[in-house]
Amino acid sequence: MPRFEDALKAVPVIPVIVLQRAADAIPVAEALIEGGIPIFEVTLRTDAALSAIGEIAKRFPEAQTGAGTVLSRNQARQAIDAGAQYIVSPGWDGGVVKTAQAAGIPVVPGVATPSEVQRARRRGLRVLKLFPADIVGGIALLKAFSAVYADTSFVPTGGVNAKNLAEYLAVPNVVAVGGSWLTPASVVAEGKFDEITRLAIEARRIASAGVC
Ligand code: 3PG
Repeated sequence: MPRFEDALKAVPVIPVIVLQRAADAIPVAEALIEGGIPIFEVTLRTDAALSAIGEIAKRFPEAQTGAGTVLSRNQARQAIDAGAQYIVSPGWDGGVVKTAQAAGIPVVPGVATPSEVQRARRRGLRVLKLFPADIVGGIALLKAFSAVYADTSFVPTGGVNAKNLAEYLAVPNVVAVGGSWLTPASVVAEGKFDEITRLAIEARRIASAGVC
């Protein structure tokens, strides 16, 4: 399996996934892989999340299966035990970061201010989630951060979609973006997995056009 950061460099899009039914886990992951995105952030917002993480990680060992919306040390532990290969949190939680670091897996805490960036940097973290990106300053904030935190990269998430993806990815300190637009709740509920593949292909196309 490629290292998390290398995987993001290759495919700079992290689908933020909310699964109401564990039965949708494999079809959703398959649809994303089919569209060229073997990276999943399954959010711990539903009862199905932990078993979904376990199933996806087992079925697609070459993919990057992570847990998102991890809000406590306990949730981090549960996600890691279930098979999560990386942890994402919307904000800063020292317990979440410690638990992931003790397990030796990547952790991407959410930040929105310079103080939070510095707290994360003190813990050795150099890839941080900017959340909620479009509300806390978006591209202008990322540019301001790049002037002072030259060695730190960001994963803007929150309000990112196919329309602004290229703009975000063009910012040099953006390693990847995250977002729920690839797996809309109604599309998952109706089992329109082809639509997820279509959205993934579109995102990959926009991402590679930006790089050229
Ligand atoms: C997250 O958990 O990162 C956010 O819910 C994603 O935000 P979005 O729904 O605006 O993409």
